Amino acid sequence: MNQALIVRGGTVVNADREFRADVLCVDGRIQALGETLEAPAGAQEVDALGCYVMPGGIDPHTHMQMPFMGAVTVDDFYSGTAAGLAGGTTTIIDFVIPNPGQSLLDAYGDWRGWASKAAGDYSFHVAVTWWDQSVSDEMGVLVREHGVNSFKHFMAYKNAIMADDETMVRSFRRALELGAIPTVHAENGELVYMLQQQLLAAGNTGPAAHPLSRPPVVEGEAANRAIAIAEATGVPIYIVHVSCAESLEAIARARGRGQRVFGEVLAGHLVIDDSVYQNESFEYSAGHVMSPPFRSRQHQQALWQGLRAGHLHTTATDHCTFCAAQKANGKSDFTKIPNGCGGVEERMTVLWNDGVNTGRLTRSEFVQVTSANAAQIFNIYPRKGLIAAGSDADLVVWDPAATKTISRTAQFSKGDFNIFEGMQARGLPVHTVRAGALVYSKGELRAEPGSGNYIKRPAFAPRLQAINRIAQPAQAQSA
Ligand code: URP
Ligand code: ZN
Ligand code: ZN
Ligand code: ZN
Repeated sequence: MNQALIVRGGTVVNADREFRADVLCVDGRIQALGETLEAPAGAQEVDALGCYVMPGGIDPHTHMQMPFMGAVTVDDFYSGTAAGLAGGTTTIIDFVIPNPGQSLLDAYGDWRGWASKAAGDYSFHVAVTWWDQSVSDEMGVLVREHGVNSFKHFMAYKNAIMADDETMVRSFRRALELGAIPTVHAENGELVYMLQQQLLAAGNTGPAAHPLSRPPVVEGEAANRAIAIAEATGVPIYIVHVSCAESLEAIARARGRGQRVFGEVLAGHLVIDDSVYQNESFEYSAGHVMSPPFRSRQHQQALWQGLRAGHLHTTATDHCTFCAAQKANGKSDFTKIPNGCGGVEERMTVLWNDGVNTGRLTRSEFVQVTSANAAQIFNIYPRKGLIAAGSDADLVVWDPAATKTISRTAQFSKGDFNIFEGMQARGLPVHTVRAGALVYSKGELRAEPGSGNYIKRPAFAPRLQAINRIAQPAQAQSA
């Protein structure tokens, strides 16, 4: 039995409205909300005067302890989820990525083992990197027995984990049968490969070549193709890390036709531009090498507009930290720089600072894009993403007046780099409560290894799933 905890004096912000209320948490759940609540004897009191009390953040895209491009990300499931808690994020959805030919269930077992030390709640998308009957069968086992309701397809990373069209078509169709949602990393891997070879052959070996090998058209093509496959198979689709106007337009067009398409944007893509690749320090430029790359200011503006217009639904980080020594694997060949950047600790502050403080987002929209929409799309709402009686007691107490300068020297993440370095942020988490326990308070982290829960995500109801129309053959004419 957990100690009861009461958050007093704050303004609760949900995705639909805000109101003054104390929040009483008992046994890991929210038990009651009210203007002046009585707390049980011995309840821990958390002061929220002058603060907003919001659902704990959900980061739907992280890679903790991921083996990738010859390295393993430096944040494991403990340090990565702990860093998330310090930033107000109480749940992550990470990825199981089987090698081509590997059993999905074996890979799932490996990742579950690595994640057992998590200090925050966690769930898994499972990648489909190859196809045969066993993959189809194991997708079924994952949905029915392990609470997996989303399958990821990397359209890039040729000769590694790239899914070809046949794999995507078969996997999307299987996802439809199972009530699961396919997700895609949308970049045309063949084009990326060709451009990489051309750039290297012309002597462009440094990180400045990275964005040139992955221009917006490469992302736009893949987004359009994935959306078309989803339309033809009749399944909803979620596009991860939308970074440019081209893929955003593909989503907006499809949504305008009534197709169920969801888009995710990374905090980094919203605020960092492609000038980072012109820096003469290899460490600095390589520290920003991720895919898709950072884009120009015009693309950033389009992404903010996409968030406001409702074409982009979630914000994530793709938290995937490689240290300087690992990035140096690509010192003489940019294609060997392990792709990935951090951000799980900074996402909510960055979104508040550049979204709410600038008037681009209301506070309720902030809640939508940092937790509620992810919870709804991945079918864990209202357990997550809502402050209401019965929901999980995952809360962040947010001080809109608190300030800090973001720096790698002060981060909880084990990474040695911070893409938001030097950003002056206003609006910070002061307390984070997960499962009714105070896990972060005023700079002090109280995260316990292994205390995070694995979150099963049920399959979708057929009504939601079949919303994209599939044409039926015309009735045979009788003679
Ligand atoms: O560069 C990135 N994004 N690394 C992580 C893997 C992925 O593509 O999401
Ligand atoms: Zn990706
Ligand atoms: Zn990723
Ligand atoms: Zn290292």
